[in-house]
Amino acid sequence: MKIIKLNAIDSTNTYLKQLAKETQLLDETVVVAENQLSGRGQMGNGWLSREGQSLTFSIFKEFERLTVASQFVISMAVSLAILEAIKRFNIPDISIKWPNDILSANRKIGGILIENVLEGSVVKYSIIGIGLNVNETDFPNLPQASSMKLETGKTFPLEEVLDTILKNVFKNLKNLSSSDFSEMKRLYEINLFRKEKVSVFETPEGSQLNGIIKGVSDSGELLVETENNPLQKFQLKEVKLIY
Ligand code: BTN
Repeated sequence: MKIIKLNAIDSTNTYLKQLAKETQLLDETVVVAENQLSGRGQMGNGWLSREGQSLTFSIFKEFERLTVASQFVISMAVSLAILEAIKRFNIPDISIKWPNDILSANRKIGGILIENVLEGSVVKYSIIGIGLNVNETDFPNLPQASSMKLETGKTFPLEEVLDTILKNVFKNLKNLSSSDFSEMKRLYEINLFRKEKVSVFETPEGSQLNGIIKGVSDSGELLVETENNPLQKFQLKEVKLIY
């Protein structure tokens, strides 16, 4: 593992992605930014963080035997690794909101942005960006956002949290191959937010839909039991889980 620490950067994902294109990076290179100025989130959203209070970092990870069809296993492995790490800091009621938001109760404390580079039918490498709200206490206009501090009343050492997450991520990603899918999926589904509960979803057209979350498919779609369909599959752009 190699860690590159930056004072300020637009986005650690963008920076590391560019570095991976231009140079031969060491596997498990990590870029950590003290201050991320233009963080990127899923679905083209932004990611806000506060200097010295949150963790924003990206990991370069190579794969040898991971097929494109199984690439959701990276998402499951990383979200489970973060969950395991923050459990050590006694963050209450943690879960993974599909596909990979990290929650405490129903509030988001962390997010993951995975950008895979493919070669034929395999994943060559992945840029795994992680943003974790550690010690921030103020989230203007983001009612669903929270932090480890807000959930516990405690302040956490950023370095120690980062170290714990990295150890867990590398452990979960070590020799990861398509055959690890079913065990990872079993663990992921155990920790899936609102699993087996009636939930409300919003479609891109703005209509609402009720259904029971049953789990995920092998390609990472959310499986929902709706009134008309016992196992409807949704991709990320197709639904937004409201609660
Ligand atoms: C999301 O929940 O929408 C994903 C957020 C991912 C944010 C992290 S912060 C470090 C890395 N660099 C980025 O620009 N984004 C990710």
